Amino acid sequence: MTAKVESWGSRVGLILAMAGNAVGLGNFLRFPVQAVQNGGGAFIVPYLVCFLLMGIPLLFVEWSMGRFGGKYGHHSTPFILDSMDKRKFWKYIGVFGIFTNLAVAAYYCYLESWTLSWVWHSISRTFAGQSQDEVAGFFNSYVGLEMPFETIFFWLVCLLLNTWILSKGLSGGVEKVAKIGMPLLIVFGVFLAIMAFNVEAGVAGAINDASVGLNFLWTPDFSTIWSPKVWLAAAGQIFFTLSVGMGSIQCYASYVKKNDDIALNAMSAGWMNEFVEVVLGAAIIIPISVGYLGVDKVLEMTQTGGLGLGFKTLPFLFEQWGTVLAILCGVCWFGLLFFAGVTSSLAMGTPVMGFLKDEFGWKHKNAAWAFGGLVFILGLPTVLFFNYGVFDEYDYWAGTFSLVVFAFFEIILFAWIFGMDKGWKEITTGADIKVPSVYKFIIKYVTPLFLGVVFFSSLPGVWDKITNKDIYQKIAITTDPKELELLNETILFVNASRLLLLLVFLGISYLVFVAYKKRKKEGRI
Ligand code: TRP
Repeated sequence: MTAKVESWGSRVGLILAMAGNAVGLGNFLRFPVQAVQNGGGAFIVPYLVCFLLMGIPLLFVEWSMGRFGGKYGHHSTPFILDSMDKRKFWKYIGVFGIFTNLAVAAYYCYLESWTLSWVWHSISRTFAGQSQDEVAGFFNSYVGLEMPFETIFFWLVCLLLNTWILSKGLSGGVEKVAKIGMPLLIVFGVFLAIMAFNVEAGVAGAINDASVGLNFLWTPDFSTIWSPKVWLAAAGQIFFTLSVGMGSIQCYASYVKKNDDIALNAMSAGWMNEFVEVVLGAAIIIPISVGYLGVDKVLEMTQTGGLGLGFKTLPFLFEQWGTVLAILCGVCWFGLLFFAGVTSSLAMGTPVMGFLKDEFGWKHKNAAWAFGGLVFILGLPTVLFFNYGVFDEYDYWAGTFSLVVFAFFEIILFAWIFGMDKGWKEITTGADIKVPSVYKFIIKYVTPLFLGVVFFSSLPGVWDKITNKDIYQKIAITTDPKELELLNETILFVNASRLLLLLVFLGISYLVFVAYKKRKKEGRI
C-alpha cells in the first residue's frame, strides 16, 4: 500500500482553511485592545502601512515557499528552507517554524478552552443578575484555579477536540471545520456588530451611543504617529493576525498542487482576515463596552491586558439586553471566538505533524496524538501558573519575538539567496491575478529593511524583558507583603518558562539534526 499523499479537497476549502488560520482570537481580542492602547485613530495608519509593506509581501513569500517545498515532499519549515538553499544554517532557522506553532498552541488552546466554557456559562445563565465586578471575579477565579476541575475539564475537552480533528486529516478534518466554522463566524459577527451599532445612550442602561466607541477608534489622531511604540505594536499585530513568521502558512501551502494558483489565494485569505479584523473585530467589543462603561473605564481595563474585556465585560453587558438576547449574544460571541480559535490552533498542529510524518515516517494519527500530548505537557504550566505570568511569557517569546526573527531570515533567504528572479517566478507561476510588479521591489528591498528596523528597534524592549525590568519596577514600589511575594515568585516562574521554551527550541533543533543525518544516510538529500 502506498502512503496516501495528503492534499486539499477544494480551492474554497483551502482558502477558508487559510483564512481560518489567520482569523483567530487575535482578530477579536488582541486587535481592539492594541488599537485602544495605541491611541485609537493613531494606530490605524501604521497598521495599514505594515499590512501593505510587510503583511502582503510575507503572504506571497510564505505561500510560494510552501508550494515550492511541497514539490519535494516537505511540509515543515526546516526542510522547506533547506530545499531553497543547502547551507546548514537554514534548517535551524526553520526550527522556528515548528517551535512557534508548538509553543503558541500551548497557551492558545487554554485560551480557546475559555470560549467553550463561556458558551456553556452563557447557556446555563451563570451571569444572570451578576454585577460587573462579579462577572470579572468569575473570570479571575476561573484562571486562578478556584474551580480546578472545571478549568481543567474544558481545557482537556478543547485539546482532545483539536487532536481528534487533526487526526481526521487535512481535507477530512481541518478543511471541513473551516468550511463550517468560517461562515458561521461571519454570520455571528455580523449579528453582534448590528447589536453593537444599536447601543443607544439611555436605553437598557447604556451611557453612550455606539458612535462614541467607534469615533474613539476611527477618528485619526496623528499626535503619536511617530512613536516607535505604536509602530512596533502595529507590526506585531500584523504578524500575529496574518499568522506570518510562524511556519503555518508554509505548511498549509505545501499541500497545494505544483501549478495551482497561490497569488490570488494568498490575497483572498489575507484580505478576508483584514475584513474580519478591521470591520468585525473592531465593531463589536469597543462600541458595546464604551457604550456601557465609557472610554476611560475601557482604557483602564485594557491596561491590565486585553483578554479581560471579552470575558469580563461582555457577558455582563449582554445581560442588560434581557434573557433571550443575553443567551443568544453570549453563544454567538463565545461561539465565534471558539471557531476563530479552533481553525487557528489546527493550523498550529499541522506543521508539527508534517515534520514527524516526513522525517520520522510517523502515521498521521500518531502524529496528531503526539501533537496533542506535547501541547498538553507544554500547556500545563500556562494553566497551573497563569497568575505567575507564564502565559504572557509564552506569548511574548513564541507569539511575538520569534515571528519577527523568523520572518526577517526567511525574506532574506527568499529575496537574496534563493534570488528574487526565481522567487518572482514562484509567486507568479499559476497566478490567477496579475501581481503588481512593484511587489518585486518591495519584497527585495522594502520588506527586509522594514523588518530589520522593526527588529532592531524592538531590542531595547527585549532586553527589558530579559532583565525583568517591569517586575523589578513593581517590586520597588510595592509595600504589601503578599503582593511582594507574588512578584518574587513571578520572577522565578517567568525565568523557568524561558528556560523551558529554550529547551524546547534546542530539542527541536536536535530532531532536525537527527532528521538531516537520517536523510543523508538514506540518500534523500
Ligand atoms: N492568526 C491567529 C490569530 O489571529 C494566530 C495564529 C494562527 C498563530 N496560526 C498561528 C500563532 C500559528 C502562532 C502560530 O489569532
